Amino acid sequence: MALFNLPQPEPDPLLQLIGKYRADSRTDKVDLGVGVYRNDLGETPVLAAVKAAEMRLQEHQLTKSYLGLTGDTEFVETLGELLFGNTATVSGAQTPGGSGALRLAAEIYNLAHPDGTLWIGTPSWPNHIPLTESAGVHTNTYLYFDRNTQQILFDNLLDTIARTQPGDAFMLHGCCHNPTGADLSNDQWQELARQLAEHSLIPIIDLAYHGLGDGMAEDLASTRLIVEVCPEVLVATSCSKNFGLYRDRTGAVFMASHDKKTASIAQAVFGQIARKIYSMPPDHGAAVVRIILQDSTLTNQWQSELRLMTSRVKSLRQAMAQACPSLEFVVQQKGMFSLLPLSTAQVHSLINDHAVYLAGDGRINVAGCQIQQIDKFIESLESVGFTGVCS
Ligand code: LMR
Repeated sequence: MALFNLPQPEPDPLLQLIGKYRADSRTDKVDLGVGVYRNDLGETPVLAAVKAAEMRLQEHQLTKSYLGLTGDTEFVETLGELLFGNTATVSGAQTPGGSGALRLAAEIYNLAHPDGTLWIGTPSWPNHIPLTESAGVHTNTYLYFDRNTQQILFDNLLDTIARTQPGDAFMLHGCCHNPTGADLSNDQWQELARQLAEHSLIPIIDLAYHGLGDGMAEDLASTRLIVEVCPEVLVATSCSKNFGLYRDRTGAVFMASHDKKTASIAQAVFGQIARKIYSMPPDHGAAVVRIILQDSTLTNQWQSELRLMTSRVKSLRQAMAQACPSLEFVVQQKGMFSLLPLSTAQVHSLINDHAVYLAGDGRINVAGCQIQQIDKFIESLESVGFTGVCS
């Protein structure tokens, strides 16, 4: 008799989609599923700046002895400078990817506010709720976006803030909202920052796609604004997408605080939490990012590779809208994703009958499309009865 009576877990839908796509033998298949950048050959090559940094690392690394609970301090410092400039007092820790960063952010929030609620606007990245709840955080949701009209429900967001308690937390997507691609306008960010501070709320910013929307400075502007206005902010960041380091699990969590003492205690607390979960983060990806960010030639090379990725995504958005007027809204949206108003049956038909892979909620990864696949994508959409937005 088995001593373990384990419930069979439900497979993660996004990760399951990767397997289904790989197993599909149709040669005209289109991968708009998981959030991985692809070039026009459908590949996700290692960036040249990353390759160069890896070669330097291999040549110069003398030891693989432990670094410490918060990882590579210089990686954290240089990444912190990239994100916040010199405008904020931040402390941070290297983490296993953006998910590890979110977990540490959730843990430290729960430690300080065990009775607080983390508010998450829906739709959101599907892992936000399970990941933060598994750290013991109580979550609640509000509707952020109406997929049928492709509008952000900003009034609903403000009404939600009015219902919060001081010390509650608010999950924000720093830029390139996942899954909708619909970011707040500058005025809305200003208003949001003001309201968060006025209601003594703690923003937790998930920053995973900076550099892939309008450019690095533009994409970071909202995070910097929130950090300037709100006394304490948690930022969970990932190098998966903008450095293409997906499998190397490279990320960091930061606490930006107007109070120096809080920031410095947070640093020690991050280490203490990490020790209880995984002890220390993996080194390789962080060392690569540090080498790139500490060398102006490699930084320029990385930034120009990132700009190419960004302009490719923008031109794909334009090409989609040109080929199909019902998709006009995707041009206004930022980053890799848009959320199409499609039913579950339409999504199933796209995958099963047309080999067009997308997430079950209708999210497409624009960056997964090859330019020569756009016609097939549009024809497939039309044949499942996609009609665009409601007026
Ligand atoms: C996505 O949203 O597709 C990516 O962030 C991958 C993931 O882990 O969900």
